[in-house]
Amino acid sequence: MSATSQLVMDQAVESLLDRVPNPCVGEELSRVEGPLKVSGMATYAAEYTFDGEALHGYLVSASIAKGTVESIDESSATSIDGVVAVVTDFKAFIRNSQQGGEKKAPTQGVQEVSYFGQPIALVVATSFEAAREGAAALKVEYTQEQGAFDFIAELGKREPMTSGNDKPVHKNNPDEGLANAAVKVDSIYITPSQNSAAMEPHATIAEWDGDQLTLHCSMQMLSSCKQQICDALALKPDNVRLISRYVGGGFGSKLGISPESIAAAIAAKQLQRPVKVVMHRIQVFESTVRRTNTRQRVALGADRDGRIHTIIHNTICTNLPGESFFEPAAISTHFAYSGQNREVKYEMVRMNQVLAGSMRAPGEAVGMLALECAMDELAEKLDMDPIELRKLNDPAIDPSKGIPFSTRKLTDTLDYGAKHFGWENRHKTPASQREGDWLIGMGMASATRNNQLKASAARVTLTPDAHAIVETDMTDIGTGTYTVLTQIAADMLGLPVSQVEVRLGDTDFPPAAGSGGSVGACSSGSSVYMACKKVRETLAKALGVEEDNLTLQAGQASGNGMCKTISELIQENVVAMGQIEPGKTTKQYTQASYGAHFAEVAVNVVTGETRIRRMLGVFAAGRILNEKTARSQCYGGMIFGIGAALMEELLHDPHNGRLLNHDLAEYHVPVNADIPPIDVVFLPERDPYANPLHAKGLGELGISGAGAAIANAIYNATGIRIYDYPLTLDKLL
Ligand code: MOS
Repeated sequence: MSATSQLVMDQAVESLLDRVPNPCVGEELSRVEGPLKVSGMATYAAEYTFDGEALHGYLVSASIAKGTVESIDESSATSIDGVVAVVTDFKAFIRNSQQGGEKKAPTQGVQEVSYFGQPIALVVATSFEAAREGAAALKVEYTQEQGAFDFIAELGKREPMTSGNDKPVHKNNPDEGLANAAVKVDSIYITPSQNSAAMEPHATIAEWDGDQLTLHCSMQMLSSCKQQICDALALKPDNVRLISRYVGGGFGSKLGISPESIAAAIAAKQLQRPVKVVMHRIQVFESTVRRTNTRQRVALGADRDGRIHTIIHNTICTNLPGESFFEPAAISTHFAYSGQNREVKYEMVRMNQVLAGSMRAPGEAVGMLALECAMDELAEKLDMDPIELRKLNDPAIDPSKGIPFSTRKLTDTLDYGAKHFGWENRHKTPASQREGDWLIGMGMASATRNNQLKASAARVTLTPDAHAIVETDMTDIGTGTYTVLTQIAADMLGLPVSQVEVRLGDTDFPPAAGSGGSVGACSSGSSVYMACKKVRETLAKALGVEEDNLTLQAGQASGNGMCKTISELIQENVVAMGQIEPGKTTKQYTQASYGAHFAEVAVNVVTGETRIRRMLGVFAAGRILNEKTARSQCYGGMIFGIGAALMEELLHDPHNGRLLNHDLAEYHVPVNADIPPIDVVFLPERDPYANPLHAKGLGELGISGAGAAIANAIYNATGIRIYDYPLTLDKLL
């Protein structure tokens, strides 16, 4: 027996979670799959084994930045012991395919090269070492062309981007507003290219059984990735299965498929053997995705009393020719602060550099590095406290769309943070607090991150011995999905968590939104909620009570004075499908999560080195599904913010766009010694317009604004404002 319960979010809904006795949702439940991971028992993409041994593929990367592959001398590789074949016809997906990206039909042979490091062939061998040796030996002849490598020189050729991840806005008279503003700031901010730098490299094992293709892969969004595989290889969805049970981080770099999966699939078909392709760390940097560098103009105009009337936020970013993705840096500028004159514009410069795509909080992560520093500068010009400036301009309704917010607790997070961080101890005058060789400063920034709901489905099976099995192709990319879905099902069905099993990461299960855009927990959690709701209806009927009067607790169903165990109520499995879909509430309410970041830094007057002393993040993101995994997400985001503020920067060779720092030794991300004590606090909130969980997106909220709080603290410490990220010590001396 299988039934479906579907909810389209057309209006505010109640949450059954509020009626659960002794709820587990919200508790600090440790990761249910934690023991598997720490004992090495969780199987990641590259770790599957086969009866007939898999062949190993090693990607060959272009050693020119722009031009044509004229010939590939396959014998230069196949003459090496163990090398089986050189596979070259995977042009279809020489690039990562971003979510919603273009559909490209497969073509024979790799011809055009548009960036250094672009995969052009796969050498397949009986061992990884032989494949790598073959790849190094492969002789390739190219014709080279002049590419675009100098961002400043190419700036004049930029083109407007009018649709995509964000839309341009022009409201009232921004130019006039700025010209006539009593107090204004108008600055250019530079942010560099960055890499997601997930620990697990991109990896795929492809296996064919007749027409059936199975990929063991490391991907964030299985349903859309499956569609990309089908498009690239001209396959029917029924013939493709993707398995990603565990993912060692993605941060956007695994939103779409990456070159190794197509290469592995084609090679496995040709050779009639499973083929495993694991990217080298350098290939992860050179051949997957980067976050684009940006050049942002932020201009704010205010009255003498601090009321902002004009906001301009224009962004220039880069990508390969033909690619549509741009960094929506002003995506939260639309609604962050009030002001009747508004302008948001995007422009693109075409560069022959690594494909640009999504990286954690695409948009806010770098956009708020600019906006929130501009707010700090404006506050100083107004002789106002930066928190007061934000509170004064906290809008009652969305100032761009003129519609209400679902829930918005920005001011509450600012007030809470100010009190608990000891903001009143901040020296208002920059460079006025010194301890020996160290200048001390405090800074803050708002956090905003748009909240979305994406269609998701899940299946829940309740067995007569009171065990629940949850199945969906949702992924857990280290975020805690297994755990929060366990908690939701446990509460909805009145079972201990030990009697709930969550199965994820397999496209044989009902399709979910996947992990991206901070939509995962709420979207897939809502589908699990809906499936459980259907199961509850069945149990209520079996007990003979209205569902409203049903209480499920400790494997027992009670209501109207009756009480029965699950085993007494059902003799066979109850199977239910749950579906959630976005509806009118998305259009009628601007939905976002909010927060406030606080940082205290010490800057060495001799070396220019910045040490962060402590940070506090206060967040309001609806119901918190699990305090522990949520806090971990925020720690991770804030640490990402530290990286963005102080060290992360991909360097492109100005001669050929090649990455000069393409591994974890040279691309600096924060390490433990860089990280101060970080406090994360969640303010209680429920958002009935978001979904039946009343939760909002959280994963990318922690990075949004975090780096700006550090930049503002550095200014407070030193009196030096840097507009060019990262804020390395050379820029402070
Ligand atoms: Mo996130 S950049 O949407 O994985």
